[in-house]
Amino acid sequence: MTGIVIVGAQFGDEGKGKIVDYLVDRLKIDYVVRFQGGNNAGHTVVVGNEKFKLHHVPSGVVQGKQCFLGNGMVIDPKVLIDEINNLKERGINPKLTISPLAHVITEKHKELDAADSKIGTTKRGIGPAYSDKISRSGTRFSELNSVYPNYYSELSKYIGDVSLKVNQALEKKKKVLFEGAQGTLLDIDFGTYPFVTSSNTIAGGACVGAGVSPKKISLIIGVSKAYTTRVGSGPFPTELKNEVGEQIRNKGAEFGTTTGRPRRCGWLDAVMLNYAIRLNGIDSIALTKLDILSGLKELKICTAYGYNGKILRTFPFDAKILEKCEPIYETLHGWPEFSHEEWQKFAKLKFERLPKEIRNYILLIERLTKTPISLVSFGPDRNDTFIRHKILV
Ligand code: GDP
Ligand code: IMO
Ligand code: MG
Repeated sequence: MTGIVIVGAQFGDEGKGKIVDYLVDRLKIDYVVRFQGGNNAGHTVVVGNEKFKLHHVPSGVVQGKQCFLGNGMVIDPKVLIDEINNLKERGINPKLTISPLAHVITEKHKELDAADSKIGTTKRGIGPAYSDKISRSGTRFSELNSVYPNYYSELSKYIGDVSLKVNQALEKKKKVLFEGAQGTLLDIDFGTYPFVTSSNTIAGGACVGAGVSPKKISLIIGVSKAYTTRVGSGPFPTELKNEVGEQIRNKGAEFGTTTGRPRRCGWLDAVMLNYAIRLNGIDSIALTKLDILSGLKELKICTAYGYNGKILRTFPFDAKILEKCEPIYETLHGWPEFSHEEWQKFAKLKFERLPKEIRNYILLIERLTKTPISLVSFGPDRNDTFIRHKILV
């Protein structure tokens, strides 16, 4: 089977764009599909001196792949047109199919979202567009002509039956990659409600949001940073409100791709990661931004929470409980700064020959999550990646 799902295992911005771009090449992917969210997403792909920030269009576009915008998405037509034109100006003529069942983000949705002050949304109209969908009063792309005739004339050539085409591709044994947006902890059902986005971001969302059977999915990869970040409000037990958090933010350029807001930074949380592994059925982890932890004397990974005098080893379903959870840490030695050339050299070495502190960090995550780390990313570029375990089983 040839359906592969890539999901964010944390609060979004895990580096999904980079990992998708890398895997499209490495796994010889034919098609890339977005299945939920809209332009609240900002996925970065870096190739040499070129940097692409994608909002609606799947990251596979950079490598010229056929891309699909599934029924589970909400789409701002004007922003999508700008995104397409921007890609064309940069020499990429996107091959797109947009589902007629995807919902349109309208001006009204953006106005309503602009009034949000509680959640810290991206103000792109996402929540109001999904509200209209659920209350059966939304506008779908099949009716774009009736609300925005000008946009329709520009986008009509891209509208097509995504579910049919993706299923036909899978029948022909083509490789299809489903690119998640946001992250598991922002899922409307399983995230830190109400501080979440308005769609199902977990792997199951790929089937509903693209119109494919769960039987077609054979591999699920969870993307996780080597630490944790969150943009917007909501509980975050391992948040560092000190110089270490500040250091990670500055070094990791942790400012939102979509809104430019500073991201909150903290230690890696294995309790949260295990929750993501359970909800998504993650086969292996792609660990990103390991380079950013360099130069810190000690590193911590949260292994459990203290709550009301008890120890919690599983993630609480209630965000009100999570707010009161105190992280319990395992502390490790850090590793020094390495130059980019040194990291590239590491990438070619056998795992056993990497610096001991880096190995210990990776091995502890694998031990705590009982999940292999298949990929390690140490820079934004496609080439700043090494494989630790076979990706396809
Ligand atoms: P996404 O929304 O999950 O696709 O992630 P974003 O693109 O919003 O944020 C990830 C940021 O980290 C982008 O600026 C990437 O270029 C960058 N990035 C990805 N992987 C790495 C890495 O391993 N090291 C460093 N230093 N930067 C990375
Ligand atoms: P990518 O795909 C990080 C956050 C917002 C806010 C909450 C709800 O780049 O990982 P929304 O506008 O969706 O109603 O906002 O979700 N959020 C993201 N955080 N990465 C994203 O996407 C996000 N998309 C939404 O900051 O807290
Ligand atoms: Mg992002």
